[in-house]
Amino acid sequence: MQNTKPVDKILLSRRAALRRLTAAAAAALGAMARVKPARGASRPSAAAIAVRVLLDERRGSIRPALYGHFTEHIGGVIYDGIWVGPQSKIPNLDGIRLALVEHVRRLGPVAVRWPGGCFADRYHWRDGIGPRERRPRRFGRWRDDTEPNHFGTHEFVRFCRLCGVEPYFAANVGTGSPEEFQQWVEYANAPPGSTSLAEERASNGDREPFKVRAWGVGNESWGCGGKFTPEDYCAEYRRFTEWVPGYGVPLYLIAAGPSGNDLGWTRRFFARWADGARAPIHGWAPHYYCGTTGHALEFSTDQWYEMLHKANHMEKLIADQWAALGEFDRERRIKLVIDEWGAWHPAGTEINKAHLFEQMGCLRDALAAALTLDTFNRHAEKIDMANVAQLVNNLHSLFLADGEKFVPTPTFHVFEMYRPHQGAEAVRLEIDDPGVAFKAGGREEKIFRLAGSASVSQKKLTLTLVHAHASEPAEVSLQLRGAGAAAAAAARTVLAHPSLNAHNTFENPQEVVPRTGPLDQRGAELRIVLPAASVNRLDISL
Ligand code: AHR
Repeated sequence: MQNTKPVDKILLSRRAALRRLTAAAAAALGAMARVKPARGASRPSAAAIAVRVLLDERRGSIRPALYGHFTEHIGGVIYDGIWVGPQSKIPNLDGIRLALVEHVRRLGPVAVRWPGGCFADRYHWRDGIGPRERRPRRFGRWRDDTEPNHFGTHEFVRFCRLCGVEPYFAANVGTGSPEEFQQWVEYANAPPGSTSLAEERASNGDREPFKVRAWGVGNESWGCGGKFTPEDYCAEYRRFTEWVPGYGVPLYLIAAGPSGNDLGWTRRFFARWADGARAPIHGWAPHYYCGTTGHALEFSTDQWYEMLHKANHMEKLIADQWAALGEFDRERRIKLVIDEWGAWHPAGTEINKAHLFEQMGCLRDALAAALTLDTFNRHAEKIDMANVAQLVNNLHSLFLADGEKFVPTPTFHVFEMYRPHQGAEAVRLEIDDPGVAFKAGGREEKIFRLAGSASVSQKKLTLTLVHAHASEPAEVSLQLRGAGAAAAAAARTVLAHPSLNAHNTFENPQEVVPRTGPLDQRGAELRIVLPAASVNRLDISL
């Protein structure tokens, strides 16, 4: 962690700052739309929230791929975000932005999806190989801009290798053919010299195969990926996957799932799939965005809760989609792959108008990311991979880059804070959650106040907790139960800020960063105060 200011000092300075706000002024600030939201109170509510970690109740291993990313040829993700070109004065490795590589490396051996998104269903992989200056220039998928194809298969694999992540390719069903897909797999994976495509790959600089395991067969096939019916997409899926060569690589094939929690798409696809030859499917890929109608940075307290509430729908989506899969796949061979998720705000906060869908990410987005990662951890046995949309200069991004400027968003810090969960064993967590009431669309709603997840690796317990209350801290009484349940040492890391819309900028990159400090408690029961609107990680040696 970059900053080591002790947590208790932060809490004290926050309390001092908050004391300056009168209750009336704070209430007015919280209620007004389009003002900088602020906190109203500083004391924990009377009763401590009970949290129990059940160390003996294991829920499966948390694959690093759950913490994956998505990189599409759209706006500023590839060009300006990842690719600056080898001649650029921006520090780069073979044309790839160095600062990005250094930061992605900190996030673990995750999976990264490319080249789309909607772009995937009009991408012809041959456009992106061979000498760069001779590659065809095409209309971009998203605007009438030009796709130069300077970033193609070799450049993406190079990016993945530099970052230590696994490549996940999304193939073109909408405007491509089964043959084109199969040849892409062959080009990527055939052993040296075994076929003409393997030789072509070598002549383009990579003799050794890329060994790409994960392949998406189309994207959002109900929409930009071809506007198929589930039945028609299932027929296409069969054609595309019938003769895919493996070349010794155990392919992991992913079918395009629904928009959100559309169970109709899932059931109709699998009814056709189960009716006759069952094409190989390893992952089923729903997409879920928690969209807002407001503004990425200007929102009321109710809108703060509303977005977190929407992000929390991921829980139901996973439960429902998993149950629907089980109706057709009784052996449970097919897992969920949530290869697009994140917060999607209306346009207006982009730092570069050419970066389509770029938005500023603030503390609210960081909490949405944290609670989504906690949700994945709690369902680790059902999910093989997930990819936040998108890595840089786009929707729920971890980074913003513009020319020479580069800054990690609060969401980056959440991914880094959550890294110790990767590869650990999820364990069950019980929270006696009191909830928080709020209003959305004139209706009374209730959202969780405290959510989280826990995992164990050897004798280390990682507990992450999202505290949603916008203005009050919470006292937590944490009990460890099961074999060896006593803390020998503990530390904590907190991401919080007095302003709900706090965010990092090129000028002020450290506005929202985690703070780490020791937690001077031992035993099977700990008491901790969590700041309002915070993401918290406890590292406990058992
Ligand atoms: O992430 C942006 C777009 O959102 C993707 O291209 C598409 O798959 C989704 O609709």
